Amino acid sequence: MMRTPIMAGNWKMHKTAREAVDFVTNLQKELGDWKETEAVVAPPFMALAPVAECLKGGTIALAAQNCFWEEQGAYTGEVSAPMLRDVGCRYVIIGHSERRAYFGETDETVNKKVKAVLSSGLQPIICVGESLEERERGDTVQIVERQVKEGLKGLDETAVPSIVIAYEPLWAIGTGKTATPEQAQEVHASIRGLLSSIFNPEGAQDIRIQYGGSVKPGNVDELMAQPDIDGALVGGASLDVESFARIVRFEKK
Ligand code: 13P
Repeated sequence: MMRTPIMAGNWKMHKTAREAVDFVTNLQKELGDWKETEAVVAPPFMALAPVAECLKGGTIALAAQNCFWEEQGAYTGEVSAPMLRDVGCRYVIIGHSERRAYFGETDETVNKKVKAVLSSGLQPIICVGESLEERERGDTVQIVERQVKEGLKGLDETAVPSIVIAYEPLWAIGTGKTATPEQAQEVHASIRGLLSSIFNPEGAQDIRIQYGGSVKPGNVDELMAQPDIDGALVGGASLDVESFARIVRFEKK
C-alpha cells in the first residue's frame, strides 16, 4: 500500500477561536482541492468546534492535541475521546514531549490514551523522541523503541490502519535545529523495524511515521525524500498559512 503523506500542524497553545477560523478559511483558499497530501490542523480545544464547522465538506482533517482516557465522569478539566469525535476530530495527538515534560505523561498514560482514542474510532498520532542528553549517550534508538513498544502495548493488527507515529527529537523542537534527513531516517527505519515485529511486515509498511522538530518550507523537501519519512508534525511553521501550505505541498525529490 502507498502511504499518503500526512502533514499536521500542531498549533500548541496558540490562536483564539476567531483567529483559528480566519486561519483555516485562508488555508482552505490556499490549498484548494489539494489531495496528494493529507493536511491536518490541531488547534487548541476551544477552537475545535468552530474550526470543524469551517472544514466541513473540505479536505483538511481536524486533530486534538490531547485527551483523557476515560469516556466520561468526575475528571475535572479533562476532555474525552468520544467528545472529540463528536466535535468532528479525526486524529488526536498523544504523548507530545511537552505533555510528557510538563503534565506528567508517561508511556503508561500514553498507552491508555491511545487505546481510548482507537476505541472511539479516532486515530492517534503517537509522539516519541529522545532528549539531547539521551542522543549524546547513544541511547536514541533504545529510548524511542521503548516509547513505541509501551505506547502500543496490548494492541493488535486491527489498529494498524489507524496509527500514526511522530518521531520528534526533543532537541529539535522549537530550536531551529532540525535533525538531518539521515539522522531522522535512521530512527524512522528502526521504528518501522519494530512495528514489523509488533504487528507484521505488511502492517509496518502501511503505518505512517512523521518527523517533527523545526520543520520548515526550506527543509521539508529533503526530509520527505527519505524512504521512511511519511509526513511532518509541524509546530511554529504551521502557524503561518503560506509556510504551512508550502509544507503540505512539499516538492518530491
Ligand atoms: P516546531 O516545529 O516548532 O519545532 O515544533 C515541533 C513540534 O513539537 C510539533 O509537535
